[in-house]
Amino acid sequence: MKFTLPKWYDLHVHFRQGAPMENYIQAHLDMGCCGVLAMPNTKPPVTHVSGKNTEQYWTIENYLSDLKQAGGEAFDDIIVPLYLTGETSAKMITEGAKDGILRACKYYPPHGTTNSEHGADLNIYMENGVFSAMEEAGLILNIHGEEHGLSGETYFGESSNAEDYFYKNHMPKLVKKFPSLKIVCEHITTKTAADFVNTASDDVVATITPQHLLYTVADLLQGLKYHLYCLPLLKFEKDRNALLEAATDKNNTKFFAGTDSAPHTTKATECGCAAGCYTGGIAPQLYADAFNLNEDNLETFKNFLCLNGPQFYGLDVSKETFTLEKKPSTPVIAGNAIPLHTGLGHDELNWTLNL
Ligand code: NCD
Ligand code: ZN
Repeated sequence: MKFTLPKWYDLHVHFRQGAPMENYIQAHLDMGCCGVLAMPNTKPPVTHVSGKNTEQYWTIENYLSDLKQAGGEAFDDIIVPLYLTGETSAKMITEGAKDGILRACKYYPPHGTTNSEHGADLNIYMENGVFSAMEEAGLILNIHGEEHGLSGETYFGESSNAEDYFYKNHMPKLVKKFPSLKIVCEHITTKTAADFVNTASDDVVATITPQHLLYTVADLLQGLKYHLYCLPLLKFEKDRNALLEAATDKNNTKFFAGTDSAPHTTKATECGCAAGCYTGGIAPQLYADAFNLNEDNLETFKNFLCLNGPQFYGLDVSKETFTLEKKPSTPVIAGNAIPLHTGLGHDELNWTLNL
């Protein structure tokens, strides 16, 4: 079994900064990726559009040029969303959009995940003109949909969790107030979020990671496989089934690939664990596993991996191709981050990817 697919866009990836970037970018190119949405949670974060970097913040203009220099020139396109903070103004949005450098903005729940401490409460942007300027300019809002500041059972419990809370309490208000704002619900993990996206307008879509299609929290806990520790946390079988159903639906136009590949060179520490799964080099192979890719669902797989994302972002589908063959392969480990499946103790992937 061997399938030829157009090169695909990873519409949620962390490339970080400095020398390691080259390895991470190369690993993405090597897995048939033709373009990316590169996340702005660098240190310092990308909270300004143009001009020079400072000690407090980076600019999209500078980070884009860093990414290109580190090998990203080979991508057809790179989108860097603006990291929204309490300092982001409607004026920055409108001017950035006019320049064409600003194409998307990322909402991070304050303190919710890796390098997210610069984020501000969602309500601030609902009131201070930022979302309204984005809606007006046709920019895309990338949402990390988790309620911040929760603990104990409300953070992660049997009947609710931080994502569930966010999609029940904030998202309905957001889409009601800004009905034509283009929204990508990033790395959704719950049935609540999948249901929300399914019933929302065509302007509301979602990315899904390989790990959330393949695993549940039980896989993380049994043997404490900390390479599976990412945020939002893996959830339950009912949630995984809802994600799989959404992604593998024949008529799916709203759900697409965004790996959230997040390299951490030190995962487990004395007092906890860095959140993020690294899937550079192996993501299409993992997605193919999740789909149980075969002749019958090839078109659906192609929609999820290669077509729906670029369609929403207005990007051209690549004319170049790559192949996935049902034949074991050993992944190449580039750089210091351990790919997820290696971290889980698997030597081989079920698929071989060739460019
Ligand atoms: C991401 C990271 O490491 O930058 N971590 C993660 O668990 N997904 C940040 C993020 O997207 O939440
Ligand atoms: Zn992420």
